[in-house]
Amino acid sequence: MILGTCLGLGILLNSFVTLLEALSLTNEGLEEVLNAHNNIRRDFANGRYGGTVANMGKLRWNSYLASRAEELIDCINVEDGHNPDFSEDQINQGFSRSHNLTMAVQQWFLEITHYIPEYGTCLTTDICRHFLMMINAKHHSIGCASLPNCSAGTALLCVYRGGEFIPPFVAPGSPCKKCERPSAFCEDGLCVPCASTRHSECDCRKTCRRPNIGYGDLDAHTCTCHCQYGMGPNCDEDCVNPEQYLDFDICADVTQAECHSFMDRDKLREFCPEQCVCRKHPGSPSMSGGTH
Ligand SMILES: *[C@@H]1O[C@H](CO)[C@@H](O)[C@H](O)[C@H]1NC(C)=O
Ligand SMILES: *[C@@H]1O[C@H](CO)[C@@H](O)[C@H](O)[C@H]1NC(C)=O
Repeated sequence: MILGTCLGLGILLNSFVTLLEALSLTNEGLEEVLNAHNNIRRDFANGRYGGTVANMGKLRWNSYLASRAEELIDCINVEDGHNPDFSEDQINQGFSRSHNLTMAVQQWFLEITHYIPEYGTCLTTDICRHFLMMINAKHHSIGCASLPNCSAGTALLCVYRGGEFIPPFVAPGSPCKKCERPSAFCEDGLCVPCASTRHSECDCRKTCRRPNIGYGDLDAHTCTCHCQYGMGPNCDEDCVNPEQYLDFDICADVTQAECHSFMDRDKLREFCPEQCVCRKHPGSPSMSGGTH
């Protein structure tokens, strides 16, 4: 009985110590890796490398993701130079010979040379996977771990959350126009929540309008638009269904009841916004087109 309790306590203590070790390893260099990411995302959103980005989220540190990174990081994988098939897609790993974590992050960013802004991706995602992971505008969280003594140098592994690994990775447009809740406000090109209780102290870049496309009311407290016409975070996108590449219109017979049904709501909002989400502006170019 006592032995059992002691053993149990021992295991508990042991896992507590392991947890502490993992946390301290993670926190070392935390600021540096997070800042390296946000600096790159800010420059990219503000057009330093070409077009500007309207929905670039500022990354926050997430200690759950950091502990996940701690579990996954491994010198051997890094030195092999290949990405093992992680169950989660949203991972970057690399190393720095000079043991400088900022340099490891910048190494990923160098893949920008393969990026084709018009397509918002590269010819194949494999050749710029690290870069796309870093600039995926919808990512909001990151957690990383590093191993300082690999033979290749310092290993770094980061886990990302928020966006999916599917193009488009960024929405073009003037910085912060398409920031979505809870990060609807702007901080030098990056989407952030309002840190102040007074919303007037936060920078809201929404206009909720675009001639003949959309129009809506701005809720200044939340920096969100309620669209009368058009759609998107700034009501500046035409209310049209995304191209389906099918020879029939899957949205043609969608009913209001289906739009609100618990089962299909999210899918239908995504694929059939004309039926389920928005109204076309009377002056919209697609109004008279009769494309459907
Ligand atoms: C790491 O590299 C960055 C970018 O090259 C540099 O600004 C920084 O000073 C370096 N850090 C250290 C500790 O050498
Ligand atoms: C890494 O190597 C250095 C120098 O050899 C050593 O002082 C340090 O304790 C090692 N760190 C870890 C985490 O093994």
